[in-house]
Amino acid sequence: MKILMVTSEAAPFAKAGGLADAVSALARALSRAGHDVRILMPRYYGIDRVSLARLEGPLAVPTAWGEAWTAVYTSALPASCVPVYFLDHEASFGRDGIYGDKTEPDYADNPRRFALLSRSAFALCRKLAWQPDIFHAHDWPSALVPVYLRHLERGGFPLSASVLSIHNLGYQGVYGKDRYPELGLPWELFHGAGFEYYERVNLLKAGIAQADALATVSPSYAREIQTPELGAGLDGLLRHRSADLVGILNGVDVEDWDPATDRLIPAHYDASDLSGKAACKRALQRAFGLAEDDRLPVFGMVSRLADQKGIAELFGPGYGAVPAVCADMAVQVVVQGAGEKWCEAELVSLSARYPNFRARIGYNEATAHLIEAGADFFLMPSRYEPCGLNQMYSLRYGTLPIVRRTGGLADTVENYDERTSSGTGFMFDDLTPRSIYDTVGWATWAWYNRPAHILEMRRRAMARDFSWERPAAEYAKLYARALTRRGA
Ligand code: ADP
Ligand code: GLC
Repeated sequence: MKILMVTSEAAPFAKAGGLADAVSALARALSRAGHDVRILMPRYYGIDRVSLARLEGPLAVPTAWGEAWTAVYTSALPASCVPVYFLDHEASFGRDGIYGDKTEPDYADNPRRFALLSRSAFALCRKLAWQPDIFHAHDWPSALVPVYLRHLERGGFPLSASVLSIHNLGYQGVYGKDRYPELGLPWELFHGAGFEYYERVNLLKAGIAQADALATVSPSYAREIQTPELGAGLDGLLRHRSADLVGILNGVDVEDWDPATDRLIPAHYDASDLSGKAACKRALQRAFGLAEDDRLPVFGMVSRLADQKGIAELFGPGYGAVPAVCADMAVQVVVQGAGEKWCEAELVSLSARYPNFRARIGYNEATAHLIEAGADFFLMPSRYEPCGLNQMYSLRYGTLPIVRRTGGLADTVENYDERTSSGTGFMFDDLTPRSIYDTVGWATWAWYNRPAHILEMRRRAMARDFSWERPAAEYAKLYARALTRRGA
């Protein structure tokens, strides 16, 4: 099959979160399975043009404000033969941020920027004389692709179908109704295509309404988003489209994230010999200025510091669980993260107050790998989690995750049972500081009193298969289904 992925992020070129990893890894796996898959994304400033080839001539993209004259640069996704097309348009993407920056967290012209990206998919395919079977959009930034295909571009692409993947329903691209004309669509479609959302424009909603098939990134999340509790206002529409929605659990990049070969960690190990993990733990303690003591369990965390991740319950000043954990338990806690300012400040303050707590603010790939390898347990008490990659990395590194039973966390981690020693991690249901405290306490108890169980769980976790082959095959099936539903 011929597949064009349209996306705002793809690793290693531009990444704000797991979306970037998921898109690139899926593309690679589909390509290995023999599909002709290509990626279209913006050329942000961070992507250096110098090393890229340029498609000959300009690419004219029809937009609400006339034709946009863009250029397209090309390259291949590393470790693959997947072509990547970078849409170059100074006014839209000539800046450092993907969605925004420090002074402007959500760029005011995002509807225009991502309308341009979405619409350019069709102009590009025409220029390449390449008719994809599937236009695969990801999240709100490319959610207009299914709408444009159905309502403006059908003539040029009579045989193509659209698929929309929902990586996170918490971000929908909602704007004032006055922004609708920027999308270059007639007003009839404001209602007809499903944009209307409490008198505002909702890009993701329209994409969900218009795509031929829908995917989300874990089976549990596929069920959860159809409920009022986790449906983020779109559960009704998602229930309506239930027959066309599947949950396909993401894989992970098993080459980048392999403790036996990882170039970013100081010692290697596998399930049969964990001595390298002990060396990584010492290196982690040293790097963070913690006591180098192998008897103390280390709890690690690598995360966007966003409400979704349970940061209030972990670090909320005066009520979060972590200060009490550090005060009451013989443990160490290390955190790498960036995001909400109050939380960054709190992490700095905790590092000053507790000798067994250390945090680094910012985004750092090498530290993320060191924490996964060196920690004994991994904290991921998310409020909701569409899939989550970090808990899968943790399992591969024998670092037992402590998770809330939600979304992809519930689908990948198996709860510990003290009687049988089964499980691969520690789970709780209610997101409260108390349950985080108790679950960390439970893991700490097991660490000191059931070391044989911990070792067995580690080995079991490390044996889990999270490669992308299976999910890629499921996407191929979904594509085939989308083709039969085309335009329905
Ligand atoms: P989300 O996409 O919701 O942030 P995921 O678990 O799917 O959650 O993906 C997060 C990805 O971003 C992982 O690859 C994780 O290692 C990485 N990551 C998040 N924050 C940081 C950070 N501060 N430093 C390094 N890597 C980070
Ligand atoms: C989103 C979700 C995360 C998921 C990632 C990749 O960022 O928050 O749970 O793993 O997308 O699909």
